Amino acid sequence: MIDGQEPTDPAWTSAAGSPVSAAARATFATMFAELAPIGRDPATGGYHRFAHTAEDSRLRAWFAGQANARHLDVHEDRAGNLWAWWGDPTAGEAVVTGSHLDSVPAGGAFDGPLGVVSAFAAVDELRARSVRPDRPLAVVAFADEEGARFGVACAGSRLLTGRLDADRARGLTDDTGITLAEALRATGRDPDTLGPDPELVARIGVFVELHVEQGRDLIDRGAAVGFATAIRAHGRWRYESIGRADHAGTTRMQDRTDPMLAHAATILAAHTAARKHGAVATVGRVAVEPNGVNAIPARVRTWLDARADHETVVRAVVAEVTRAAGVEPVEESWTPRVEFDPRLRARLDGVLGGVPALATGAGHDAGILALAGVPAAMLFVRNPTGVSHAPDEHAEPGDCLAGLAALTDVLAELLTGEVLVAAEPPA
Ligand code: GLV
Ligand code: MN
Ligand code: MN
Repeated sequence: MIDGQEPTDPAWTSAAGSPVSAAARATFATMFAELAPIGRDPATGGYHRFAHTAEDSRLRAWFAGQANARHLDVHEDRAGNLWAWWGDPTAGEAVVTGSHLDSVPAGGAFDGPLGVVSAFAAVDELRARSVRPDRPLAVVAFADEEGARFGVACAGSRLLTGRLDADRARGLTDDTGITLAEALRATGRDPDTLGPDPELVARIGVFVELHVEQGRDLIDRGAAVGFATAIRAHGRWRYESIGRADHAGTTRMQDRTDPMLAHAATILAAHTAARKHGAVATVGRVAVEPNGVNAIPARVRTWLDARADHETVVRAVVAEVTRAAGVEPVEESWTPRVEFDPRLRARLDGVLGGVPALATGAGHDAGILALAGVPAAMLFVRNPTGVSHAPDEHAEPGDCLAGLAALTDVLAELLTGEVLVAAEPPA
């Protein structure tokens, strides 16, 4: 990935011109190489890193190892998120950076890990630059960002901030019927401790998440690094159609109760409604029971993912899909539009000397923290394929290191600036 690349490309510096040290380049490459085999399907190159599985345990052990190697204090919070502290966590408002390590089914290598690897490498860079932090810094890996196993996206940051009720979380089930509580117990954790941690949230003075871009914006703008302005409104809904299981060859067409028909109508309505309203809608997951070629299904579950600039548009799409489905869906997760603090962005953009800013349709823990009142910013690193949530997701080494340099510049400003985040001007 990063190995074997020579630091001759000018993109190996941040937009502000800061170079990345040779040591950080090496450890960056080593970290990615260590993560590379975890949960990778050699046949497709896709990653399967679901919450509270054996792969997740290996990722957590890797995180602890990176923290220990840097003499950072590791701590798992009540929501299952991992923290690595540089400095006393109680000594003032903290600068927090990181992302997540889990993946979607057959996901790419960069969505999540790029932010965590860059965060650890930025600690090395800050130390190499002899930056003396005036406030604590934490590297964080949020649990179950993708919600690939238990259905709720950004489950770790939602639990932490109280947006996901602990009882509901404990009862969430995976495809095989295992509850989140059982999965936690199976990995030696106590599900009863699950819950929000307002004290920890209050300690976060600012959160900066670096993430691979998941679209083509930075390609079109010819830039290696950009800021996020906003996250579009998005959510997940589960439709369940019940039918009557029967023989595919002997049941007359007029005698069938076939839930697959409602399923088909749901998918077509999602596509039509999204195009009509200027939204995006996807049915990427279905569960058919009993899933036999020669059996009329007894039950079909259809998951809808719908997103748009504004909540009203998403709601209009879901209402049209629901009419077509003929059943009310269960809302598995919902995130309203998030605007990242423009003054924080302007200040950090000043440090970087001006980089593009873009809105995104992808969800992030930074958005959940922002909704909880935490000043948050996101840096994106160009993805030359524009593809994400798939093995083709990519980031060039030079762009990754430009991202690392930018993250280091931004963290140095936040760790040593006179004020962490300026107070709101009077209304
Ligand atoms: C998370 O990556 C999402 O946008 O679904
Ligand atoms: Mn993702
Ligand atoms: Mn992500």
